[in-house]
Amino acid sequence: MKNKIKLFEPIYDGQEKRALQEVLTSGFWASGSGTGNVGIFEKKFQRYIGSKSCVAVSSGTAALHLALTIPDIRGKEVILPSLSFVSTAHAVIYNGGKPVFVDVDPDTLCIDPQKVIEATNSKTTVILPVHFAGMPSDLSKLSKIAKKNECMLIEDAAHASGTIFNSKKIGVHGDLVCFSFHPVKNLAMPTGGLISINHKKYREIRDTLLSRRWCGITDRKDTFYDVKEIGWNYYMNEFSAAIGLVQLRKLDRLNSIRKSIAKKYYKEIKTERKMPYRENCSYHFYWILVRNRTKFRKMMNAVGIETGTHYRPIHTMLMYKNKTKLKDTEKIGNEIVALPTHPKLSDDDIDRIISAVNSYDD
Ligand SMILES: Cc1ncc(COP(=O)(O)O)c(C=O)c1O
Repeated sequence: MKNKIKLFEPIYDGQEKRALQEVLTSGFWASGSGTGNVGIFEKKFQRYIGSKSCVAVSSGTAALHLALTIPDIRGKEVILPSLSFVSTAHAVIYNGGKPVFVDVDPDTLCIDPQKVIEATNSKTTVILPVHFAGMPSDLSKLSKIAKKNECMLIEDAAHASGTIFNSKKIGVHGDLVCFSFHPVKNLAMPTGGLISINHKKYREIRDTLLSRRWCGITDRKDTFYDVKEIGWNYYMNEFSAAIGLVQLRKLDRLNSIRKSIAKKYYKEIKTERKMPYRENCSYHFYWILVRNRTKFRKMMNAVGIETGTHYRPIHTMLMYKNKTKLKDTEKIGNEIVALPTHPKLSDDDIDRIISAVNSYDD
């Protein structure tokens, strides 16, 4: 039996080990004083992505939760795709908003701007695209729609570390961009997330987010502090930031490996319904659509290849079920298969994946 190919694998070497050791022996494990990795990570990431400011938090879910505290969405609507991890929608509920799910573009699996236009009304306060599998959503169209409707554009970039850093290529960014650094992501930490701020009131937003990420604490002077509003315990820890600093240095190189794998899949996988190849995509994974997914995944598993089913559409889950019907999303939700693109794949692994996919008669 050949080696088992995993869908996701964090990539690390001695640099991450040394960074962890340093934090361990420093005695400062939370963020704040001591090694100061969290603050350094925020600055380096901000420079990398070219935004006005960055606030590091404990997870992608925390980033989405806090970002959506910025506009007041209580009793208001947030437009988002249903084809995402459930946190994208939970973040709306945490803040008292109403998620309005719309269909995705079947070519990119990112939110369809035309469907966003159809869903906007006077209650819309936020448009929340997801850069699916690292593919950038159509930000130039979405930001025009957001501007016209006077609502905020907040991006779920959990899959997109390395995609929208090339902001110049894409042109327009959302007011707030939320990242996840979960261990399976392109930039991996034990756990972590970040909000990148592009809004013109970035200083004010940064101060608000900093306070909300640590229990609402403000006006710290020595041991004195005040609390004026509710906050959470969402700060990033020093171990995560230390690993993140190393991973950030490697990100472009590792993403270029992901891209070359995706390019080969795109060229050599015979099935027609597959993820397109784009230079600005960071390929968190590579998706294909198959009719009999259970049979397909069983076959892949039998030859030692792990696959995923990202995602069951959120609007089909009990908590979110209503009358919403999303034709494309529902079909895709039944047919999507995620294939590995992580840089640990050997040439032999990649050939095995391609020939297994091509051996399947859909
Ligand atoms: C699209 C999307 N949004 C949000 C999240 C939440 O990120 P985290 O797991 O870091 O909380 C994830 C993570 O899996 C995700 O894939």
